This record gives sequence, structure tokens and C-alpha cells, in this order.
Amino acid sequence: MPATTGPRNVSDADAADQRLHVAIIMDGNGRWAKQRGMPRVLGHRAGVNALKRTVEGAQSQNVGVLTVFGFSTENWRRPAHEVSELMNLLKAYVESDLERLAKAGVRVRVIGRRTGLSADIAEVIDRAERRTRDNTAFTLQVAFNYGGQADITDAARTFAERVERGEAKASDLTEAMFERFLSTASAPPPDLIVRTSGEQRISNFLLWDCAYAELVFQDVLWPDYGPEALAAAIAEYRRRDRRYGGVAADDVAVAG
Ligand code: FPP
Repeated sequence: MPATTGPRNVSDADAADQRLHVAIIMDGNGRWAKQRGMPRVLGHRAGVNALKRTVEGAQSQNVGVLTVFGFSTENWRRPAHEVSELMNLLKAYVESDLERLAKAGVRVRVIGRRTGLSADIAEVIDRAERRTRDNTAFTLQVAFNYGGQADITDAARTFAERVERGEAKASDLTEAMFERFLSTASAPPPDLIVRTSGEQRISNFLLWDCAYAELVFQDVLWPDYGPEALAAAIAEYRRRDRRYGGVAADDVAVAG
């Protein structure tokens, strides 16, 4: 996993060895439920089972960080009972799986705005992060009350506050400095961003961090997702030629 979002040199050997950061927009819960004549919330509940299968599968597929989009800053526009179900599902997931994840060496991180979340949800997030903070085998990063624009805005505000306090100079700001203020700063940028359900949009996910990510869109509804679909997405990623704005090694030789 490269260390910054900018162009960098990754040899073919490194590329094959490195543990990937895979980020997933888990889309299609509502359609999955509708196809079965069920309420949407049952699609979200089935989505939690897909998440469990995918987390399990990722650990044996050379993935070091898995980021999932659980709740966006725009999802508050959904009906109140659906918002409440999504909150409860996060809580129930942490309560049922935290000990197992902790014992398996998984570090849980939650990115996104804490303001706006109720005290019980904020507490469950803090507990999951505290319990697993020393784990290094695998990172599960849950984007919850997260929006890429909100994250960039919050980072800009943090930097501006430093300038106001006289701790930084605006002219010193670089991309490498700025990205340290993002909530995603502790993980490398995603190598691969997957969106399920056939939709082909980024929907305010990891806007800064996606600069050099490979995008894979899969025609599977999230509740049907699991290790095999993840393996297919990674296989597609492996066929891509990542150039980070440069040129392919073969073309350098030809040009030289
Ligand atoms: C998009 O499907 C999915 C979401 C907005 C929420 C994703 C949530 C889960 C998978 C539940 C578990 C999450 C956590 C973090 C415990 P959609 O409802 O927009 O589907 P549609 O486009 O078919 O309507």
C-alpha cells in the first residue's frame, strides 16, 4: 500500500506483494429487498451478513485495509425509521462481532463526523476503536456519517484554525501536509474502490483519497456479496496498469 495519494514508484514485484486497501460502496440493499417483496430495512440486515462474509474473506485475500461506506452524510435524508435501523445495525454489529474481531487482530476504525450521532452510537464507536487500537493484522475502516466533501471541509477548517493561532503559515500548505488532517490519514489511500449494484458513481466517498484508486463496478447487489465477488474485483484490479500519471515501464524503455 503506497504511503501517499500522489504519484509514486511501485515496481511490479512490489505491486504483487503489497497488501491492498480495498474500499467498498455497499449498494443495492433496497433493491435486493424490493425484489423479494420485503421492506428495505431487511435488505440492510442482509447487508450486515454480506459485510461479515466480506470482512472474513478479505483477511485471506491479501487485503490489509477494508473500508466500507456504512452511512453517508447524505443518508440523513432517508425516512427516519430507515436512518434509525442503520444506526441500530452498526451498534448491533459492534456488539455481536467486536470480541471476535479483536481476538483476530483486527483494528476497527470509524471515519466520519461524530457530531450528529447519538451518545450511544458514539460510545459504541469509541469502544470498538479503543478495544482494537493495538491490533495490526487487518484494519476494518467503517465510514459512518462520512462524506468526502465534509471530510475535506473539516480538514481545511482544522488547518485554517492552526493558521489563525499562528501555528502554521498558509504558504507552507502542501498536499502531503493537508492530507494529514483528513479522517482517513492513518490509512494509506485505497488501491481499489468497488461499487456494487451496477451503479457507477463515487457518491461523495473518499474524494481526496480516490485520486489514483482503480474503480471496479460489480453487477451484484450488496446482500449477495461475499469472498468470491471480492476475489473477482481484486482479479480485475490486478489486470489494471497503475501509472500514477506517469508512463508504463515498457514505454519508458521505448522512449529511452
Ligand atoms: C446502500 O443501499 C446501502 C446503504 C446506504 C447502507 C449500507 C449499510 C449496510 C450494508 C448495513 C451494515 C452497515 C454497517 C456499517 C453495520 P441502498 O439502500 O441505497 O440500496 P438501493 O440503492 O438498492 O435502494
